Amino acid sequence: MSRTREPYIPALRFGWLTALYDPVVRWTMREAAFKGRLVEQARIQPGHRVLDLGCGTATLAILIKQAHPDALVVGLDGDPKILGLARSKAGAAGLDIGLDCGMADALPYPGSSFDRVVSSLVIHHLTRDAKRRALREAVRVLTPGGELHVADFGKPHNALMYCSSLIMRHFEEVSDNIEGLLPQMIREAGFDSVEVTTHYSTVFGTLSLLKASKVGE
Ligand SMILES: C[S@@+](CC[C@H](N)C(=O)[O-])C[C@H]1O[C@@H](n2cnc3c(N)ncnc32)[C@H](O)[C@@H]1O
Repeated sequence: MSRTREPYIPALRFGWLTALYDPVVRWTMREAAFKGRLVEQARIQPGHRVLDLGCGTATLAILIKQAHPDALVVGLDGDPKILGLARSKAGAAGLDIGLDCGMADALPYPGSSFDRVVSSLVIHHLTRDAKRRALREAVRVLTPGGELHVADFGKPHNALMYCSSLIMRHFEEVSDNIEGLLPQMIREAGFDSVEVTTHYSTVFGTLSLLKASKVGE
């Protein structure tokens, strides 16, 4: 599955739990609210090419295609098993969504291939180095002026979320998020106008939405 020497963390950490991914996320992460908001935030226009980085079962890619039938929507994930679920869901919904197997830190697309890169609950799966490489790849595949829209764990925004984050912060890959490092890492990758737009309280801690843009020519 992994083409790098780094650990590959499947959707629910263990491959045998992948079939349960959709119900778990639906009931613990306020999925409908935050994914709907992420789609709105991305302000996708007719003809836009949109990459869902780490698409999992393609819930977000499907929402995007349903809201923007004239956009070209592509989901990428490194796990062939979850892509099988994604293909079934997209097929059942009758939607034409490209679904590619590949790694977030070595994207199989030429530069300037997309107007939007969206990513939900993926960056916290990556080691610090892989986060940096993946964010640089997002810059590379975006057109100048293109935008990145991310939903992922963030710095706790209240005392309750601080308590909820106590378990997650022990996972090395998530701790960068919980320490609030994502905006800086996104900036260092080459993005401009990096902004945390909103927070959600979830069972596992604060989920933050971020947006950033690639400097135009
Ligand atoms: C928690 S799931 C999120 C799935 C989906 N984006 C969502 O919001 O429901 C994380 C996904 O990232 C994928 N993933 C983890 N590491 C990856 C990598 N290095 N490259 C591509 N996909 C990766 C996993 O296979 C999994 O599908």
